[in-house]
Amino acid sequence: MNTTKSIGVFDSGYGGLTVFKSIAAKLPDYNYIYMGDNARSPYGDHSFETVYQYTLECVEWLFAQGCPLVILACNTASAKALRNIQQKVLPVKYPDYRVLGVIRPTAEVIGSFTESNTIGVMGTRGTVNSESYPIEIHHFYPELEVVQQSCPLWVPLIENNEHIHEGADYFVKKYTDELLAKSPAIDTILLACTHYPLLIPKIAAVVPEGFKLVAQGDIVADSLADYLTRHPEIESQLGKASEKKFYTSGDEQVFDKNASIFFDEKIVSARVNLKI
Ligand code: DGL
Repeated sequence: MNTTKSIGVFDSGYGGLTVFKSIAAKLPDYNYIYMGDNARSPYGDHSFETVYQYTLECVEWLFAQGCPLVILACNTASAKALRNIQQKVLPVKYPDYRVLGVIRPTAEVIGSFTESNTIGVMGTRGTVNSESYPIEIHHFYPELEVVQQSCPLWVPLIENNEHIHEGADYFVKKYTDELLAKSPAIDTILLACTHYPLLIPKIAAVVPEGFKLVAQGDIVADSLADYLTRHPEIESQLGKASEKKFYTSGDEQVFDKNASIFFDEKIVSARVNLKI
């Protein structure tokens, strides 16, 4: 049995690093390959078909690097591409490979954070318009009120490292105010985009005291740990040399500079040439 294989972690850009950081902290022994499709991000406003094609191409690339399991650490890709990949592609082309997303594990636990039974979900236009969160959450918490808000400018601000500057404050307050105006009962906000944890200090400054802001990293890491204990046929293929490799479809030097801020570690990436 080959035990050198890696867990693949995919995002449109840097956001998945917030999830990867939690996964690597929870499960430090495994080998990982992170792939950011920076050349084609953000995905948030792309059509279903485009997000599906881009995501599938990156997933197939991760499979070819020897990842039997790929985590879509991206809500937009999870909302728009995961179901088709799981139901149409894997059974036909890759029956021994697995792809998991971030929406279901989040939906499974989000109800435990709210006392008012009302949560706000902030995400990209793609994630919000897909209605994936209300649908998934209602499977587990049929009584929960789910109020959504798309935040189309947040990912571009973060991808361009502008989120740390004052100019970002206006757009953080704008979308947060718009969400809160939709329901006074909201006491919990789910950051349903893996980029948004970078904005937590700014969001916390514009919501009422005691509000819960829920990021997905630890939720996804816990769910992955549980998955691996339930799936020894996958787990037993994975190498445990604590290797982390990073790839981007964009410029490596730009990626290394920005990714290190997200991951709190020095990152040296290599470029992947995709069909643009
Ligand atoms: N991190 C992705 C998500 O969770 C980013 C979306 C984008 O590329 O627009 O949705």
